[in-house]
Amino acid sequence: MAQVFDRSSNALARFSLVLTGVIVIALGVTLDQLQRSPWVTRQGQRPDQPIPFSHKHHVEGLGLQCQYCHTQVEKAAYAGIPPTKTCINCHAQIWTNAELLEPVRQSWATGASIQWIRVHDLPDYVYFNHEIHVNKGIGCASCHGRVDEMPLMYQQNTLQMEWCLNCHRNPAVNLRPTSEIYNMAWAGPSSERPVWCTSTVTGGATAQNVSCTTMNPSGKGPEVAMLQMNTEANGPTSSDVPPLGITMPASYQKFTSQMDLGKYLTAQYHIRNPEQLSSCETCHR
Ligand code: HEC
Ligand code: HEC
Ligand code: HEC
Ligand code: HEC
Ligand code: HEC
Repeated sequence: MAQVFDRSSNALARFSLVLTGVIVIALGVTLDQLQRSPWVTRQGQRPDQPIPFSHKHHVEGLGLQCQYCHTQVEKAAYAGIPPTKTCINCHAQIWTNAELLEPVRQSWATGASIQWIRVHDLPDYVYFNHEIHVNKGIGCASCHGRVDEMPLMYQQNTLQMEWCLNCHRNPAVNLRPTSEIYNMAWAGPSSERPVWCTSTVTGGATAQNVSCTTMNPSGKGPEVAMLQMNTEANGPTSSDVPPLGITMPASYQKFTSQMDLGKYLTAQYHIRNPEQLSSCETCHR
C-alpha cells in the first residue's frame, strides 16, 4: 500500500503539537502577567482628579500631618477623605482666586462635595481596617509609600492578596513604634541610629503602653530617663482635670536592628501568629 503520509508529515505533526503546547503556556503566562500588571492592579496610575491636589506641597511643603485631613485613620476602618471645609480653612485666605481651586469654591458655595476619584479600592469581599494596622505599629508609608513626595496621589503597591499575605506571614519586619506611624522617612533602627523602648505595663499591655525614643535616654540624665505617666494610661480622665503626674523609673531596652525591635514589638503589641493572620477568615468574612 502506498504511504498516504510521507515521513516528513510525522515530524510536522510532532512539531505542531509542540507549537500548540508552547502557545498554550505562553497564553497562560500572559494572562497571569496581565492579572498582576499595573493595568489591572491600578498600581502607579494617577487618575484625573477634579483638583490636582498635591500631597507633596501640603505635607512636605506646609508640614501638615496626615490626621489633619484623614481624621478617622486611627479610629475607624476608613481613613476618610477630608470635606471641603478642611480646604476652606486655609483657602478662604490663600490662593482665593486660583483657577485650580474653582471646584473647591464651587463645592463650598453649593454644598455638593468634591467628586474625588478613588485611588485605592479593594474588592467588597475583602475586609480591611486602618485602625488595627495603625494602632499595631504599621506606618502609612509601609502601605502607601512616600506620600510626602507625591505631587499627585498614586497607588504604590498592588494591594493583591499576595501583597497582604507577604506582610501577614512576617509582620515583624514592618513593625515600628506607634509614635513613628506618620513618619514618612522611618527606616528602622541600626547600630548608627539605635532605638530605645520601654513598657509601662508588664503583661496585658497595648501598643499605647510602649514608648520608644531615638535619643539615648540615659545620656540625658536620670530625670529624663524617668517616664512621665499620667492617669490616662489607667483610665479615662476628663479634660478639665489636670493629669496626675506619676514619675517612675523606666528601664529602656536598646535596639540596633529591625529584627530585634520587630520581635520585641510583636510580643508587646500581642500580634497574632502568622497562621492566624493568614487564615482566610481574617480577610474574607
Ligand atoms: C491637606 C489635606 C491632606 C493632608 C494633610 C493629607 N492628605 Fe491624603 N488626601 C487628601 C485628599 C483631598 C485626597 C483625595 C485626592 C487625592 O487622591 O489626591 C487624599 C488622598 C489620599 C490617599 C488616597 C485615597 C484614595 O483615593 O485611595 C492616601 C493613601 C492618602 N491621602 C494618604 C495620606 C497620607 C499618608 C498623609 C500624610 C503623610 C496625607 N494623606 C495627608 C488630603 C490630604
Ligand atoms: C496595612 C496597609 C495600610 C496602612 C498601614 C495604611 N493604609 Fe491607607 N489604605 C490601605 C488600603 C488597602 C486602602 C484601600 C481600602 C479599601 O479600598 O477599602 C487604603 C485606603 C486609604 C485611603 C482612602 C480612603 C479609605 O479609607 O479607604 C486613605 C485616605 C488612606 N488609606 C490613608 C492612610 C493613612 C493616612 C495611613 C497612616 C496613618 C494609612 N492609610 C495606613 C492600606 C493601608
Ligand atoms: C493648612 C492650610 C491649607 C489647607 C488645609 C489646604 N491648603 Fe491647599 N494650599 C495651601 C498653601 C499655603 C498653598 C500654596 C502652596 C505653595 O505654593 O507651595 C496651597 C496650594 C494649593 C493648590 C495649588 C497647587 C499646589 O499644590 O501648590 C491647590 C490645588 C490646593 N492647595 C488644594 C487644596 C485642597 C483641595 C485642599 C483640601 C483638601 C487644601 N488645598 C487644603 C494651604 C492649605
Ligand atoms: C506591612 C504589613 C501589613 C500589610 C501590608 C497588611 N497588613 Fe493586615 N495586619 C498587619 C498587622 C501587624 C495586623 C495586626 C495583627 C494583630 O493584631 O494580631 C494586621 C491585621 C489585619 C486584620 C485583622 C483585623 C481584625 O480586626 O481582626 C485584617 C482583616 C487585615 N490585617 C487585612 C489586611 C488586608 C486585606 C491587607 C491587604 C490589602 C493587609 N491586611 C495588609 C500587617 C499588615
Ligand atoms: C491578609 C488578607 C487575606 C487573607 C488572609 C486571604 N485573602 Fe484572599 N484576598 C485578599 C485580597 C486583598 C484579595 C483581592 C485581590 C485583588 O483585588 O486582586 C483577595 C482575593 C481572593 C480571591 C479572589 C480571586 C483572586 O485571587 O483575586 C479568592 C478566591 C481568595 N482571596 C481566597 C482566599 C482564601 C481561600 C484564603 C485562605 C487560604 C484567603 N483568600 C486569605 C486578602 C486576603
